[in-house]
Amino acid sequence: MEVLGVILAAGKGTRFKSERPKVVHRLLGKPMVFYPYRALLALDPIKVAVIVGHRAEVVKEELGNYPKVEFFYQENPKGGTGDAVSKARPLLERYPDSATVVLNGDSPLLRPETLKAGFERFLKENLDALIFTAELEDPTGYGRIVRDGSGRVVAVVEEKDATEEERRIKEVNGGFYVFKTDLLLEVLKELKPSPATGEVYLTDAVKILAERGFKVDTYRAPFEELLGVNDRVQLAEAEKVLLRRKIESLQREGVTVRLPETVYVEWDAVVGRDTEIEPHAVLRGNTSVGKNCVIGAGSVLENAKVGDGVRILPYSFVSDSEVKSGAVVGPFARIRNGCVVGEGAEVGNFVEMKATAFGGGSKAKHLAYLGDATVGEGVNVGAGVVFANYDGVEKHPTKVGDRAFIGSNSLIIAPCELGEWSFVAGGSVVNRSVPPRALAVSRPELKILENKNPILKKRKKSDKGSNP
Ligand code: UD1
Ligand code: CA
Repeated sequence: MEVLGVILAAGKGTRFKSERPKVVHRLLGKPMVFYPYRALLALDPIKVAVIVGHRAEVVKEELGNYPKVEFFYQENPKGGTGDAVSKARPLLERYPDSATVVLNGDSPLLRPETLKAGFERFLKENLDALIFTAELEDPTGYGRIVRDGSGRVVAVVEEKDATEEERRIKEVNGGFYVFKTDLLLEVLKELKPSPATGEVYLTDAVKILAERGFKVDTYRAPFEELLGVNDRVQLAEAEKVLLRRKIESLQREGVTVRLPETVYVEWDAVVGRDTEIEPHAVLRGNTSVGKNCVIGAGSVLENAKVGDGVRILPYSFVSDSEVKSGAVVGPFARIRNGCVVGEGAEVGNFVEMKATAFGGGSKAKHLAYLGDATVGEGVNVGAGVVFANYDGVEKHPTKVGDRAFIGSNSLIIAPCELGEWSFVAGGSVVNRSVPPRALAVSRPELKILENKNPILKKRKKSDKGSNP
């Protein structure tokens, strides 16, 4: 049976108190609505209708590149979930013999496997409608599943419309449904606004079908998968669950995670076997880490590509950059804006590197700034070296040939080129290029004046001649 997906994402999300639509708020770096979309893909749908309304352009921009998505506009974002689904009517009418799977856009925890299992049951038992439910200890805020004496579903009652007795029901609606498309189209026309809220409820479609004797049933999902995110407390709860799943999937693939409850790994991050992630590490965006690495405590990797056997020592920050195999970074290093740290290179404490290619085996181990530079292989950058790349108006490049040596506390004023095997003596200011194999030294003359220590001179006066 062909499948159409519908994601409800037009609501205002009032309880979120946000300028941005609720469904684009991020969970592990992805907009909330990505997760129901991903679950739908497991059913290989023909199309996924996304119903947008409140700040539609923002939702559209987030999902614009997702395959199979077609947007439908709901003028009244308080029209209710039934009104929202009816906006996809033009799509549904094209495939009357399909099954339509409707998912709330604010429910990110439904697993693709659970959706698939429910959908298979819908097919196998030739149901007309299926609704995903769970038993909750505290069902507050959810629609309750009302059954008759023989256990058949007869209605879903929203909390605001429920009687005292109905409110005590612990089985709730997860906001995930499968319908035979032609039947859904039929009943959508008949839905009436709730007297309590003025909203048209999709859940009433379930009730109408049940009343008319169609085969309506429930699929029990693990309660964790039902969480609807209505405010930022629930946003944090949902993210915690997704994070636990993400970290467990890494652990099953052979990654060691120390104190996993302190580690934050976003959805798209990948990590190779036998890599160890220490407490409080953060892996954001499109980060990939190879095999046998160590990601040190408190380090942050953002869109970082890390090779095999790399050691990122504690409290380092690598963003939009690549660190090749065998390199050592940190502790307390910062590497940003398109750097490439070569194989086996070492970038140590309090070294900042920006838009720099740093050759294999090169070392900058202490207190340096390298910006807009191309550094060859086997180069030694001493402590406190600064590449002055900015003249106040423009940025300029620095080039350093293989095996050059830059002594401690030197200032290289860009644009500048240091040739292969060139040697800059410690404390030099280099403002023009140095040819290969040359020694560059710029130093004021050192004077040594015997017995002129000024402290001792002052003391001599006050102590009336008594020397230590
Ligand atoms: C809904 C269900 C409730 C269920 C709960 C599960 C209805 C009437 N109620 O309640 O039975 O237990 O989800 O989380 O369906 N939306 C629109 N247009 C609208 C209104 C909502 O697109 O006019 C979207 C929202 O953006 C949201 C989703 O539909 O993604 C659910 O809406 P929400 O208002 O959060 O419904 P709940 O009160 O949580
Ligand atoms: Ca909700």
